Amino acid sequence: EKKKLWGGRFSEGTDEFVEEFTESISFDKELALYDIKGSIAHARMLGKQGIIPKEDSEKIIKGLEEIKKEIEEGKFEWKKELEDVHMNIEKALIEKIGDTGGKLHTGRSRNDQVITAFRLYLKEETNNIINLLEELKKALLKKAEETVDIVMPAYTHLQRAQPIRLAHYFLAYLEMYNRDQERFKDNLRRIDQMPLGSGALAGVDFPLDREMTAKELGFSKIMRNSLDATASRDAIIEFLSNSAICMSNLSRQSEDLIIWNSTEFSFVELPDKLTTGSSIMPQKKNPDVLELIRGKTGRVYGDLIALLTIVKGLPMAYNRDLQEDKEPVFDAVKTLKGSIIGMTKIIEGLKPKKENMEKSAGGFALATDLANYLVNKGLPFRQAHHVVGQIVGYLTAQNRELESITLEELKKFSELFEEDALNILNPKYVADARKTFGGTAKERILEQIAFWKENLTEK
Ligand code: ARG
Repeated sequence: EKKKLWGGRFSEGTDEFVEEFTESISFDKELALYDIKGSIAHARMLGKQGIIPKEDSEKIIKGLEEIKKEIEEGKFEWKKELEDVHMNIEKALIEKIGDTGGKLHTGRSRNDQVITAFRLYLKEETNNIINLLEELKKALLKKAEETVDIVMPAYTHLQRAQPIRLAHYFLAYLEMYNRDQERFKDNLRRIDQMPLGSGALAGVDFPLDREMTAKELGFSKIMRNSLDATASRDAIIEFLSNSAICMSNLSRQSEDLIIWNSTEFSFVELPDKLTTGSSIMPQKKNPDVLELIRGKTGRVYGDLIALLTIVKGLPMAYNRDLQEDKEPVFDAVKTLKGSIIGMTKIIEGLKPKKENMEKSAGGFALATDLANYLVNKGLPFRQAHHVVGQIVGYLTAQNRELESITLEELKKFSELFEEDALNILNPKYVADARKTFGGTAKERILEQIAFWKENLTEK
């Protein structure tokens, strides 16, 4: 009764430890519906080609459809001793329709079967991720539109650098997530290729019609080389790499918002429903979603390194090591989707604290512009930099902010300062002076917003 589907040449049953150690059903059942889809296409093609009788092909397809229903309704019983998702389904088919079920695996190997199901799964999940990124981009665009008139300090080295419009910040992340999305779209061209029909490694000696199965399964291309088709995982590594890069962007933005949410910065308010409390400190309102996006980034980096390491020493072609390709991908898909959804909700609910941001946008963040004022009067930039450095030192020693300086004081540092120099002590004025393409001036930001309004797909 514990007879394996491959048990013919064996004289004793499998050691229980080995069954436990080698099984993958505990995780690869995630592929069940894709496996059935692949099997149905294969069976239909076998029938059409006369490789198996038409009636048998129809019987197999009907049986597979019933199994599909059982799985969807949660009634299907998965068995560890049957190893993996493919064997579980094939065995159930044989139990259901009898020996005819044994004809399904004609002209096929689990080696082309498994990577076909995996590619179908990845195609769908990649499209899901692309759609979720589109929603995140829309949320950022909407926030940018709402915050065009808020000025804040931008930082380098986490030191106040120069004033920008807050919208400029949101549009920066929109660009980053847009590139993440482009990477996934590009990766789809390499995922969307059909390995089925490659057999175990060398191709198949039955007259398969691979065009037919590719069409039914919706693959745009058929893989040209059967060794490559069964043994390569680089398109999947690319998916994990894209996921890791996307997580790095999400993590980085999480860090910004965690800092902005601190009492010391107090630049933003996060909605109650997206934060959590402390079991001991009643005052706490913690940005746990953002912290977990940042933390879970480590998992996805690990997933990428895991698969890179799995393939690095594999002799051609298939090796059982490749069974280890699935868990990292399932983990990355779940983590990335959750993180994009989490960030989208945070962006939608984020309330900037305009007064605090604008208060911090002034002061020495305006120093560059004061130097540029002198440059416009003919002073070489290096000298202007030095003069303003002296002004900063002078004020800092007296614990004063830049805005408190008078024209008389400025004149002590350089005769070039005149009445209009005091205009510069206004962050909005300074931000709007950055009018080069890509700069933070209001007119440039409105152009960026107009660009994205054209380019984001409507819901
Ligand atoms: N479950 C395996 C995998 O995920 C497929 C089985 C192929 N096994 C074999 N002995 N060729 O890769």
